[in-house]
Amino acid sequence: MVGAGKISGQYLDTVARLDALRLTAVTDLDPARAKEAAGKAGAEVAGSVAELVARDDVDAVLNLTIPAVHAEVALAAIAAGKHVYGEKPLATTRAEAAAVLAAARTAGVRVGSAPDTVLGTGTQTARKAVDDGLIGTPVAATAFMTTAGHEAWHPDPEFYYRPGGGPLLDMGPYYLSALVHLLGPVVRVTGAAATPRAEREIGSGPRAGQRFPVEVDTHVTGVLQHAGGALSTLIMSFDIHAAHLPRIEVHGTAGSLGVPDPNGFEGPVELFTAGSWQPLPVSAGYRGAGRGTGLADLAAAVADDRPHLASADVAEHVLDVMLTLLDAAHESRSLPVASSCERPAPVPLTG
Ligand SMILES: NC(=O)c1ccc[n+]([C@@H]2O[C@H](COP(=O)([O-])OP(=O)(O)OC[C@H]3O[C@@H](n4cnc5c(N)ncnc54)[C@H](O)[C@@H]3O)[C@@H](O)[C@H]2O)c1
Repeated sequence: MVGAGKISGQYLDTVARLDALRLTAVTDLDPARAKEAAGKAGAEVAGSVAELVARDDVDAVLNLTIPAVHAEVALAAIAAGKHVYGEKPLATTRAEAAAVLAAARTAGVRVGSAPDTVLGTGTQTARKAVDDGLIGTPVAATAFMTTAGHEAWHPDPEFYYRPGGGPLLDMGPYYLSALVHLLGPVVRVTGAAATPRAEREIGSGPRAGQRFPVEVDTHVTGVLQHAGGALSTLIMSFDIHAAHLPRIEVHGTAGSLGVPDPNGFEGPVELFTAGSWQPLPVSAGYRGAGRGTGLADLAAAVADDRPHLASADVAEHVLDVMLTLLDAAHESRSLPVASSCERPAPVPLTG
C-alpha cells in the first residue's frame, strides 16, 4: 500500500476479510501514517516507494496517493514488474494515463483502477435491468453529484481543488463508470463549468480555518452522447449546499430506472413501468463488497488468466470523457471523445 491517508482504512477493512489479499508493506510520505496502517494489518513499513516496489513479497501495489502522483507511483510499480491497482482518477492527464497503460503492456503487468463500487449489487442490478430490456431502449440518463465541498470533512482537502481534483475528476469516475456500465462508452460531449469561489477554508483537523486557493472548476454540468445514442445529463458540483436530486436515473422507451449512489456498492434499484415505481430484487454484482474488491478480483484474474473487472481501459476512457467535457466547457462547444472502451462485462451475482 502506497498512501495511508483518509481512504486507506476502508481498504484495510477489506484486506482483513479477503483471503485473496495479504498486505505485506506500507509506505507514505508521512512515516507515522505508514506505521499506523502497517500495525493494523500486521504488515511492515517500507521507507520509500522505491523500497516497497522492490520487495519480493509485493506482487501488486495498491496506490492510495493523491491524484497528482497516481501516475508516478503506478509507473514506479510497473517498472519493478508489479501489478498496480489505484484510486481514482487513473491519472490527471491523458498523456499520463497513456504512459501508465503502455508501460504495463510492455512489462506484462495489470493495471486496475477504482471505482470498484460499480461492481457491487447496486449498479449491477440496474445494469441487468437495462440488459434484460425492462425499460425498453435506453433514451436518457441523469447523474447528479452535489455537495458544498469536501473541505468540510477532509483534514487535507487541497488536492480536491488542484489539477486532478474538482467535482468532475474526483466524483465523476463513480458516475461516469456507472454510466459506461449501464449505457456503454461516450462518443461526444458538451458542457459548461464555473469556479464561483477563488478560495476555500479547511473545516476539520489540525489546520481547520486555514484558507487555500481553488485551481479547478467546482461546478460542472454536461451532456454526454453514448455510442448507442442515449444522452446523459450531468451535474457534478462542490457548490451546492442541498438538493433533492436523484443520484442516477436511466430512462428508456418502456420505463425508467432509479440507480443507487455509485459511490457505494449497494442500494435500492427502482423500476417504473405500468404507472408505478417498484423495488427490484438484487440480481447481479458482488454482495457485501468493499473498497479493494476490484484488487481482489485483479489477483484472481491473474491466477485464472482472464481479464480483471475494474479495468484501466474503462478508467482511461472515463478520464478522457471528463477532460474532453472540461475542454468543451472552456471552448463553449461540443467535442468528440477520441477514446472508447468495450462496455464492461456484466458481473453475475457473487458472494
Ligand atoms: N477520502 C475519501 O473519502 C476517498 C474516497 C474514495 C476515494 N478516495 C481517493 O483516494 C485517494 C487518496 O485520498 P485520501 O482522502 O486518502 O487522501 P489523503 O490526503 O488523506 O491521503 C493520501 C496519502 O498519500 C500520501 N502520499 C502522497 N504522495 C505520496 C507519495 N509520492 N509517496 C507516498 N505517499 C504519498 C500522503 O502523505 C497521504 O497520507 C485519492 O485519489 C482520492 O480521490 C478518497
